[in-house]
Amino acid sequence: MDVFERLESEVRSYSRDWPTVFTRARGTRLWDEQGRSYLDFFAGAGALNYGHNPPALKSRLLEYLAGDGVVHGLDTMTVAKRAFLERFDELILRPRGLEYKVQFTGPTGTNAVEASLKLARKVTGRTQVLAFTNGFHGMTLGALAVTSNPVKRAAAGVPLRDVVRVPYGAPDVFGHLADAAGTAAQPAAVILETVQGEGGVHPASAAWLQEVATACERHGVLLIVDDIQVGCGRTGAFFSFEEAGLQPDIVALSKSLSGYGLPMAVVLLRPEHDVWKPGEHNGTFRGNNAAFVTATGALEEFWADGALSESVSSSAAQLRSGLDVLVARSGGGFTEARGRGLIQGLVAGTPELAKAICFAAFERGLLVETAGVDGDVVKFLPPLTATAQEIDEALSIVTDALASKGLVASA
Ligand SMILES: Cc1ncc(COP(=O)(O)O)c(C=O)c1O
Repeated sequence: MDVFERLESEVRSYSRDWPTVFTRARGTRLWDEQGRSYLDFFAGAGALNYGHNPPALKSRLLEYLAGDGVVHGLDTMTVAKRAFLERFDELILRPRGLEYKVQFTGPTGTNAVEASLKLARKVTGRTQVLAFTNGFHGMTLGALAVTSNPVKRAAAGVPLRDVVRVPYGAPDVFGHLADAAGTAAQPAAVILETVQGEGGVHPASAAWLQEVATACERHGVLLIVDDIQVGCGRTGAFFSFEEAGLQPDIVALSKSLSGYGLPMAVVLLRPEHDVWKPGEHNGTFRGNNAAFVTATGALEEFWADGALSESVSSSAAQLRSGLDVLVARSGGGFTEARGRGLIQGLVAGTPELAKAICFAAFERGLLVETAGVDGDVVKFLPPLTATAQEIDEALSIVTDALASKGLVASA
C-alpha cells in the first residue's frame, strides 16, 4: 500500500473508500490481493454496464491486438471506426428514427461535454448556458462551469462564467432564467441529465423533460442531453431520453460506450448543427480504435434485440423493491429510495450515515459509493448484466451493513 500513499497525489479518492489492492475482475466481481471478492455495484462509475472483461468483447479485443490492428488512429479512417459507425447507425440511430452526425472527441466524458458546449455556442452565437442545481458534467473548466458541486467548483481557481443555474425539475425553466440572470438574455443551450447521477440520483419526470424540450424549441435554444452516466442502457433504453420521446439537438456519450471500460466519447449532433470547420476542435486521443472494437462488439452483443432492456427493467424492479424494504425497516435512518432503471439511490438522514454504510458494505464485500452534493445518498450502479442472485446478495450485504449500525430490525 505504501507506494500509493507515498507517491500518489492527495487527490485520490476511491482508493481511500476502498482501501485494498485489486488484482482481477470479471463480470460483477473484483478480487483483491488477499483473495477476497467484492460485488461491484459501482461499475466504474457507470463505465462498465456490461461488467468487467465481458468475454465476448475480450475475445474481439484480443484478436484485434494479435492482428496488429491500428490502436491509435487520431481521426484517420480505419476499419475499426468504420465498423463502429456502421453498427451504431444500424442498431441504434436508425431503429429510433434519430438523425445525428457523430463527432469523436477526446475520450473522457468531460471532453464530450466541452465539445457540446462549444458547439452550441458556435451554432447560436450566444454565450450563456442554462444548467441545473445538482448537475454534474465534468472537471475541465467549461464542464465544471455547468457542474453545480461547490467543492469541485472552488478548485477551478478562476471564475466559472456564462452559466445560469436553475432548479432541476422546477416548472418554467426559462422564467427562472430571467430571475437568475436579472436579464432575459437568451442562452445558447440548456444542458441536463435525465437522471442526475453524481448529484444524488434525482430522476426527472418525462413530463418535465418534455416541457424543457418544448421550451427550448420555442426559444430557439439548443437542448444538450448529457447521457454520459445514464445512457448506454442504464435506464433500460439505449438513450435515457427515449422514454420521454426527446430528440435533443446534441447528446454527449462516454463511459459505457466502449463496453469494456476503455476510454471513448462522442458527441451526437443534429446535421444542421454541424458547423465545425475541419480540425477546429480536435484531440490526440479521439481515435482509440481498441475502444471502437469493443464498442462495436457491445452493440452487436447487447443491442441487436430488446433482451437487455427487458432484463434491466426486471433487475431494476428487484433492486428497487429491496431498497424500498430497507427504507421501511431502517427506522428513519433512510428516508427514501429513488432512481430509474439500474441507477438507484438510498437517501440517508445524514452524509455520515451514508458514508458509514458504504464502508460497512465494503468490509462485507460490496462496492457502493455515496452521491449527492453532501454525499447523503448511497448509490447503486450495478452492471446491467448483474444476475438476480447478485442483486439479492448485494441487498443482503446492505441489510447486514445497516444492522451493524443498529438500523435494521431483523425481518
Ligand atoms: C453526467 C456526467 N457527465 C460528465 C461526466 C464526466 O465524465 P469523465 O469523468 O469521464 O470526464 C460524468 C462523470 O461522472 C457524468 O456523470
